[in-house]
Amino acid sequence: MSQTEPAAPVMPPRFNFMTVVRIFLRTWPHLKPQWKHIAAWFSLQFLSGVVVSLLAVIVLDVFNNKVLLGAPLEPIQATLMLFDASYATDELTDLQRQEVRNRLIVYTIIGYFLLVVLIQRMVTTYYEMWIAQQINQSLRVKMIENAEHLSLRYHSHARTGDAIYRVYQDSAMISSIIDTVILDPINMIWSCGLAFFILWLFDPALGILVVTASVPVIALVMWFTPRLQRRSWIARNTNSDLTSRIQEISAAIRIIKANQAEDTAIDRFNEDSHTALDNAFWLRVEIIIMLALIGTIVGVVILASDFMMADWTIDGQKTAFGASLAIVGFTAWNLGAFEAARSRIGQYVGWGSALISKWSIMQDMAVGLDRAFFLLDLKADVTDTSESAPLPTPVRQITFEGVRFGYDPERPVLKDISLTAGAGTVTAIVGQTGSGKSTMMSLLLRLFDPDEGNITVNDVDLRDIRIADLRQNVSIALQQNVLFATSVGDNIAYAAENVDDEAIREAARVACADEFIQALPLGYDTELGERGSRLSAGQRQRITIARAIVRNTPILILDEPTASLDAETEQAVLRNLADWGQERIIFLITHRLSTIRNADQIAFLKDGAISEIGNHDALMAIPDGNYRQYVEAETIAAEVQDV
Ligand SMILES: Nc1ncnc2c1ncn2[C@@H]1O[C@H](COP(=O)(O)OP(=O)(O)OP(=O)(O)O)[C@@H](O)[C@H]1O
Ligand SMILES: [Mg+2]
Repeated sequence: MSQTEPAAPVMPPRFNFMTVVRIFLRTWPHLKPQWKHIAAWFSLQFLSGVVVSLLAVIVLDVFNNKVLLGAPLEPIQATLMLFDASYATDELTDLQRQEVRNRLIVYTIIGYFLLVVLIQRMVTTYYEMWIAQQINQSLRVKMIENAEHLSLRYHSHARTGDAIYRVYQDSAMISSIIDTVILDPINMIWSCGLAFFILWLFDPALGILVVTASVPVIALVMWFTPRLQRRSWIARNTNSDLTSRIQEISAAIRIIKANQAEDTAIDRFNEDSHTALDNAFWLRVEIIIMLALIGTIVGVVILASDFMMADWTIDGQKTAFGASLAIVGFTAWNLGAFEAARSRIGQYVGWGSALISKWSIMQDMAVGLDRAFFLLDLKADVTDTSESAPLPTPVRQITFEGVRFGYDPERPVLKDISLTAGAGTVTAIVGQTGSGKSTMMSLLLRLFDPDEGNITVNDVDLRDIRIADLRQNVSIALQQNVLFATSVGDNIAYAAENVDDEAIREAARVACADEFIQALPLGYDTELGERGSRLSAGQRQRITIARAIVRNTPILILDEPTASLDAETEQAVLRNLADWGQERIIFLITHRLSTIRNADQIAFLKDGAISEIGNHDALMAIPDGNYRQYVEAETIAAEVQDV
């Protein structure tokens, strides 16, 4: 297991207010399909709120004026409470007042349960959760869809855990967007505004005081905002690293155990887990420092307002807009006015602080959503267009024309590859390890597109051919053979559609596998263990080759699947392939000279280009040629081994 580098992007992105706004606006396509539900949920919430407030007023009226003071019920009240008409005509008797009180209590309990508990708490909460899940689901599915279609260039760079964390954790931020970004702030700003307005009516000085104090608070929040964003960015990234670590340890558990590397694995996990926790901790410390500083300013505001209001109360001073406050009785400063104004200040401060908390949550949400959108923004390098055509058949020839390609475009692996392979031929690709042989074949499968130049099938550019169609017509057998825990026959038929037992057996015969498979306890029905653990490396390779053969495609790639075979078996497989592959185009990558020399053409790959091409005799005829030197070096090596 290598020490893995952190996932891209490496630098904290430059966030500013507009970036955050843009990120939130980008969630709209995922909210839009739910807008009817959002509207319904909002109406339900609003209506039940109005009904509850109305009923509260009525309950107060009935309790204060009717139960306590004995006034007759309004006719509608009497009807609703199932009293006879006498309750609405005359002053209530003591007995009637008790009766009204009793029913009022019962009705209030029933009303509270139906409206508040059932509708407000349960139905709307459940409904809201359901909507949030739909929205989150939409984003997640889009992310996975995109990740599936991304080029291998992304998948070979990023750690798996990074994508998992983005899809699983970062995307979840979208589910609280309606509450946290829209409804809560509106509610809080409105409540703050109302409190401010009432304070202003008491005395404009109070209004000016809270507004003035808001200036340094806003400045503080602005100063802390980029710090919070950075902290939350780091926290999310270290957590995604931790997810990758868990995923890597689980995937490599056999190797870890075999190498007794448990302690190292635990140390690394410990370290990553610590880093993730530390960063989450520092994010919270930052928020606490900010809230503590703001709390100090709030304390000063409360003391200053107490000081001023105490003076006004001692003087019995008139409230500023006494006339407008007359309805509630506060025309002059007294204890009641003091308390009422003070609770408004508390409200202003309370809602303001809640708003700031939401603000810091919003920063974390924006960072999370930004990471989620990162996955959506990655473009697949290899895509079909509306004009993509089927693969031209029959396949006559494949041509590489001036192909240049690098996993990192700055460092090309292939610089200038030109090569033509015709139907009915075997092309051997030879070159040192790491020279780009497998990369050439990945380009032929269109796992990547060349940076320059092109690859054509019968003169049609690969880029104009439907990807699925191309891959259906190319079989590949690799050195790293992957077998599945199922029967031998199923393993061979794994990548093929509608093949019968005869075809499976025929493929096995070509791959020189039939004989040993017949000798297995249940022949083709023998179940293999995990990763084909019951077979030797050479047997596994022959099954992999049979799997490629059974697909019966016009193009066949053998990328060193014969490395574990002895020379004799390899020769036999190759001979069978030549007979079987009459009109096919076969690419063969191997290091074994005895096999290479039988190929129709040999392409020697050096420094990202094909330095020599021709059959064995032609290439051996080049004095000091690369191939000739290679053959001589291999021969000496083989002789040394034999000695
Ligand atoms: N997925 C990848 N991402 C980045 N670099 C890669 C990737 N695969 C291969 N490379 C690099 O590209 C170069 C060519 O690799 P390639 O696998 O094509 O070589 P090769 O000729 O098949 O080697 P070998 O004989 O060992 O199989 C190497 O330097 C390798 O490090
Ligand atoms: Mg290779």
